[in-house]
Amino acid sequence: MRKLMIAGNWKMHLNTHEASLLVHRLSERIDVHRNVEVVLAPSTLCLQPLSLEIDRRKFRLAAQNAFYKDEGAFTGEVSFTMLRDLVHYCIVGHSERRAYFHDTLEVVRNKVEAAVRNGITPILCIGETEHERKSGETKQVLHDQLTTALSNLTTNDVRDVVIAYEPVWAIGTGVTAKPAQIDEAVRFIRHNVAELYGQKVSEEVRVLYGAGVEPEYVAGVLSLDAGIDGLLVGGASLNYHKFSEIVNAAYRTRREN
Ligand code: 13P
Repeated sequence: MRKLMIAGNWKMHLNTHEASLLVHRLSERIDVHRNVEVVLAPSTLCLQPLSLEIDRRKFRLAAQNAFYKDEGAFTGEVSFTMLRDLVHYCIVGHSERRAYFHDTLEVVRNKVEAAVRNGITPILCIGETEHERKSGETKQVLHDQLTTALSNLTTNDVRDVVIAYEPVWAIGTGVTAKPAQIDEAVRFIRHNVAELYGQKVSEEVRVLYGAGVEPEYVAGVLSLDAGIDGLLVGGASLNYHKFSEIVNAAYRTRREN
């Protein structure tokens, strides 16, 4: 059975002191769950101190971004090689990076490849904008983002990649995606993986949902037929009450199903 993942993307919030406080509060409220992997993605600055602080039975760390070259004259960048011993995961292709930092399809592909080369599992975010959805381009966009991002990997590498479906129009907007919309998109993603890498890989690969996740949506989203293996949480992951409730709700849902 695919292991559930609940990941908190803290984006550009919290300094090291605040991050450490949040981890402390979460640790008090979250138990060790064998079937639920809880992943925290703080700013790059906080990865080193948090790696020493976290209870590794409860939490794993993810970076939010890294550059695809392993080293060199690239002022201001941090490479996947530098993150090797600090993180299990790295978010790649988040829509905010695609929109504000020129993470094009090719850049995302190079980053996915660099992550895998360095033993870090990419959490590959894909999703359509409101305009793209309204123009009926959702499937084309998901297909293009997925195929390009994975194109330098072997079938074996793809098995381990975590894919996150994040409809851009529902990220931090207060607009919620309907269960049927999430179900349809995730089915399409699995169908695409099956076409490219075979049915077995598409059944093994983990697909998360992320956009506007709140504690009350957890059971519904995780019970969808498409098979959703977890959640990538933005805003609510900064609130320890909400994030621990999301983790605990995921745990309850998994136990009941
Ligand atoms: P929100 O949960 O704030 O909508 O953000 C989702 C997200 O971007 C996670 O990566």
